Amino acid sequence: MVNARPRVLSGIQPTSGSFHLGNYLGAVRQWVGLQETHDTFYCVVDQHALTVPKDPAELRSNTRFAAAQLLAAGVDPERATLFVQSQVAEHAQLAWIVECLTGFGEAARMTQFKDKSAKQGADSTSVGLFTYPMLMVADILLYEADEVPVGEDQRQHLELSRNLAERFNHRYGPTFVIPEPHILKETGRIYDLQEPTVKMSKSASSPKGIVELLDEPKATAKKIKSAVTDTDTVVRFDADKKPGVSNLLTIHSTLSGTPIPQLEEHFAGKGYGALKTELAEIVTEWVTPFRSRTQEYLDDPAELDALLARGADKARVVAADTLARVYEKVGFLTAR
Ligand code: TYM
Repeated sequence: MVNARPRVLSGIQPTSGSFHLGNYLGAVRQWVGLQETHDTFYCVVDQHALTVPKDPAELRSNTRFAAAQLLAAGVDPERATLFVQSQVAEHAQLAWIVECLTGFGEAARMTQFKDKSAKQGADSTSVGLFTYPMLMVADILLYEADEVPVGEDQRQHLELSRNLAERFNHRYGPTFVIPEPHILKETGRIYDLQEPTVKMSKSASSPKGIVELLDEPKATAKKIKSAVTDTDTVVRFDADKKPGVSNLLTIHSTLSGTPIPQLEEHFAGKGYGALKTELAEIVTEWVTPFRSRTQEYLDDPAELDALLARGADKARVVAADTLARVYEKVGFLTAR
């Protein structure tokens, strides 16, 4: 079927209560923008979150927190299909077929798996963590997504999606759309405030470098003011020589809408303190209404759950259609 508007799918893990600024600037902000021009499907990938042990009550709560934050950030359930992965069984069903298409060595080369499993050790690493990218491929292929808005750290998984879609099409005949990564050069990788050469991530060694969107704005302002920069004083974008300052400039520019050269001019002769103070204000102004909107959605969990269930109903229609075609192609008997 040819879609009138190009299709977009993306997902985010309900890893902990709050998204961080990297999630927002690298991915969610693009999700919101793409609703204007694309047919968008966004899912909270709770099955992916289960690849590491999770307390059930916490997982349920984090899933609602994730959905509430997506809505607060501007995902509009009237335009986008917002749903929870585990409520659409077709994801797990297609994942099996994708797993059977993937080479063991190919899966073992996924750098996120290699990094995480090396940290955890083989015995604490679940098979689910190993097959995680194949579930992600299933998420994407089920919706025949033309574009997948993600941060830079997901590029390899997107490459895998393209390779496996092509492999399936080659083996069984044209079926899947080959998805394109939608990764922004400017914000595809937002860095840790304390270690500006490492991406901002929940698994960072210290929480000081991570801007959690739901933190008290005062705590966030403090983190920004103590961000690591360098011994120079000139506010200039140079990702190699001045990673800390460049990261702050990227965040400022994206949230304020001011191009970086204009910011360099604005801060000429003023030093890093001025940049940090202004950025702390900009971030505070953004997170304050974001936090209250998130809280409003969380205050009515029954309505939030109903909204997600309606999203899952819409998603299932598309997913079931794709899965039926795939089952037919691979040679499964049709249940009548
Ligand atoms: P997750 O939940 O780790 O992250 C959600 C999104 O945030 C982006 N991101 C960043 N972008 C810029 N700078 C950073 N420091 C930063 N940290 C995280 C991620 O790239 C991601 O886009 N496997 C995915 C979830 C997923 C998915 C999918 C994505 C499951 N199925 C299908 C797209 C399509 C993940 O763990 O993202």
